[in-house]
Formats: sequence, C-alpha cells, structure tokens
Amino acid sequence: MRLFVTGASGGLGRALAEKLAARGHALTLLSRRETASSSFFHVRGDLLNPAGYEAALAGHDAVLHLAAVTHSADPDLYYAVNARGTEGLLAAARRAGVTRFIHVSTCAVGADCGAYGDSKALAEDAVRASGLAWTILRPAEVYGASDREAVGQTIAAVRQGLVVPYVAHPEAKLAPVHRDDVLEAVCAAVERPSTAGKIYVLAGPEVFTQVGMVAALREVFPGFRLPVPVPVVALKVAAGLFGLLGLRRPPFVPDQIPRLLCPKDRAIGPARRELGFAPRFLRQGVRDQGE
Ligand SMILES: NC(=O)c1ccc[n+]([C@@H]2O[C@H](COP(=O)([O-])OP(=O)(O)OC[C@H]3O[C@@H](n4cnc5c(N)ncnc54)[C@H](OP(=O)(O)O)[C@@H]3O)[C@@H](O)[C@H]2O)c1
Repeated sequence: MRLFVTGASGGLGRALAEKLAARGHALTLLSRRETASSSFFHVRGDLLNPAGYEAALAGHDAVLHLAAVTHSADPDLYYAVNARGTEGLLAAARRAGVTRFIHVSTCAVGADCGAYGDSKALAEDAVRASGLAWTILRPAEVYGASDREAVGQTIAAVRQGLVVPYVAHPEAKLAPVHRDDVLEAVCAAVERPSTAGKIYVLAGPEVFTQVGMVAALREVFPGFRLPVPVPVVALKVAAGLFGLLGLRRPPFVPDQIPRLLCPKDRAIGPARRELGFAPRFLRQGVRDQGE
C-alpha cells in the first residue's frame, strides 16, 4: 500500500515506519524538520498548515496519523495540533481523494484526562464524522518507545536505580504494553479493510497500580531498590516548579497528572480477535527489551 504517515519522527512512529517498510509498504512521511534519513520519501510540513502538505496526499491508499502533542505545558497546543490539526488533515485527505484513515489515539481519551485527553477525544469525533473509512487505535501506556513516558521512566528506575519513585494514588493505574505489540496491531489495522469503522484498545494484559508495577519489575531486576511513594500533591508542586523554571523538556508536565488518574477502557478482546493483538506480560516485555 502507499501510506502517508504523520508523526514518524516520534517514539512510536520511527519504529513503525521501519516495520511498515519491511512489510513492503511505500511510505511518505510528513516531517517538520529536515532529515538525514534517505530510506523514505519525506514531505516537509506542519499539521498546523495543511496547505503546505495537501498536494502530497494525492495517490495514497491511506493516511496513518500518529502526530500529536504529547508533552506540553501549554494546554492550547494540545487543542491546536491534536484536535484542529487532525481536522485539517482529514479535510486535506478528503480533497486529495484519500479514502482510508487510520488514527492513533489513546486510552487516556476524554475531558477527565486533561487537555491531551480532551484534544484526542475531539480528534476522534472528527475522524468518526469524516466520511472516510476510518479505524481508531487507542494504545495504553507504551514502554520501549519514548523516555518521556512515565512507564518507561519507572522501568528505567527499577532497572538502574537505587531509589524508585512511584505515584501513590489508587487510581494511578497502568496497563503497560510493549511497543512491538502495538506496532504489530497498527500494521494489522492498516492491512485489514475489515477494521474500518471500529475502535480498538491496545493495552497490556495486566492492570497495575504503580506500586504493583514496581513490585512486578523488582522480580525481573532483583537487588536493593528503595520504592518511594510520591503523593499527587507533590507531583503538582514539582510540575509547577518545572514550569516556573521554563525547562524546554521538563521531566513531566502538569497535564500528565489527570492523564494518569482518569478512568480508561482496557478491553482488548476486539483487538485480540480482529487484529491478532497478543500483548506480552510486563515481566516478559522488559526481559525482551533487555536483550
Ligand atoms: N507513547 C505512548 O505511550 C502512547 C500511548 C498512547 C497513545 N500514544 C499516541 O501515539 C502517537 C505517537 O506517540 P509518540 O509517543 O510516538 O509521540 P511523540 O514521541 O511525542 O512524537 C510525536 C510526533 O508528532 C509530531 N508532531 C507534533 N506536532 C506536530 C505538528 N504540529 N505537525 C506535524 N507533526 C507534529 C512530532 O514531530 P517532531 O519530531 O517534529 O516534533 C513527532 O513525530 C500519538 O498520537 C500519541 O498520542 C502514544
């Protein structure tokens, strides 16, 4: 298939592009920056300016949309890129005659999940109303993709550290999912037209509290570790301080707190049946990562 992919410089997108190419697909990648890679055809463009990339959409069998603002201290940016940027991409795809749209959303979707989750919900609404043959994928907490995700930071802390901070809140639950399991499911969604009109949750097979996840990880990485519970109020203070310091890449942003605490759909039955999604257990996943 000829695929127009957004977000291919991100933690998930980079590995996904390699995997899709290995499966024989021809890719056009929307990139905001000049890139040294010559393996793919790149179109320079920004989601915020559809006129800049619209012409390049013509002739593609599908759009695979991963680009999003995932960690920003500015709530408006989530809405601008994730909601309005997706609307612009959908309109441009329609005008260019593209009929299929695979949208990577998130389990943390909805107004309770902060500006990120709200903006992703608005994007999903636009995708469903687009008239295109859409598929929506909702990954949970992916590990192995980005060092900015809380789940990856916890795994790194248990693997290497002496002190392991974790969020001490009963609603701070995670269903960690290995990056490669998510990528397999995305490829299946792209390649199976029968997935059109459906939403699939791509979560790991176990739901942990944060302290439960640390305990599971300590079985894989034994040795002295000091788990340190961090109350949510301390996270809020720290996020505020990072904001005041104006760090370009703060360790976390305030919007990650509602994202962590909001209720999430973890029902992976449809993805198992229709995408062949077979997520590995966390203990296995981190062992695989270490290899
Ligand atoms: N990783 C996870 O745990 C996880 C979990 C659930 C859902 N997801 C979803 O999966 C997708 C990919 O996540 P990720 O972890 O790979 O994200 P990421 O590492 O933060 O990468 C985001 C991507 O979006 C691009 N982007 C941001 N703003 C853009 C704009 N205005 N125009 C064009 N491109 C823009 C970035 O390009 P630049 O390189 O130019 O910044 C980058 O390629 C996202 O939609 C995210 O919501 C991820």
